[in-house]
Amino acid sequence: MNGIQFVLCDKQEDLALAATLVDSRDDNAHPLDHEYFFHSRAVILAKTSEGDIVGCAAIKAGSGIVGELGYLVVSPCYRRQGIAQGLTLKRIEVAKSLGIAILFATIRAENTSSRANLLKAGFQFWRDYLSIRGTGNTVGWYYLPLKEHVDVETVMQSLVGNRVPVVCTN
Ligand SMILES: CC(C)(COP(=O)(O)OP(=O)(O)OC[C@H]1O[C@@H](n2cnc3c(N)ncnc32)[C@H](O)[C@@H]1OP(=O)(O)O)[C@@H](O)C(=O)NCCC(=O)NCCS
Repeated sequence: MNGIQFVLCDKQEDLALAATLVDSRDDNAHPLDHEYFFHSRAVILAKTSEGDIVGCAAIKAGSGIVGELGYLVVSPCYRRQGIAQGLTLKRIEVAKSLGIAILFATIRAENTSSRANLLKAGFQFWRDYLSIRGTGNTVGWYYLPLKEHVDVETVMQSLVGNRVPVVCTN
């Protein structure tokens, strides 16, 4: 990960470049809602020493003590160098500075690399639910408490709402 820096995005032009990177995602993600992306609580960029943006990740739009991670993407030529991990650790640091008490993330079951990245950063798996979009996709829900005495069960239950749990039959 030579010369890569993880920085908080504070320029509109960098935000637009980050949106272009997210638009280029190759994991069958749904199209980016640019308006929603631009309202993220924090966008972290991975920049080379030349200033090129080769990765980005966000704490999504919202407020309060619960924060959602999203929009993680690393340029194909820069993968397997720890950049996603660096972006995720930086998001945790920024979330703490924002007073966020618990982070959560949702990941499609087949996205094993993203799952491994979250677990490596300290996240824990909560449960699998069917996608709310009615696609039949299984989505894993993950959490990381950042403060003591967080009632994980209550918070996560309120987030999943009436989604249908995927029951393991093995
Ligand atoms: C998922 C993604 C962000 C990972 O980026 P990355 O910079 O290559 O990840 P890192 O190098 O930081 O890897 C962190 C850990 O994740 C896991 N991981 C990453 N890529 C992996 C892969 N292809 N296969 C298995 N595990 C993988 C590993 O545990 C890795 O740690 P290790 O290298 O010490 O074993 C990148 O592949 C990507 O942009 N994919 C397309 C977009 C996407 O899927 N975004 C996430 C949506 S939820």
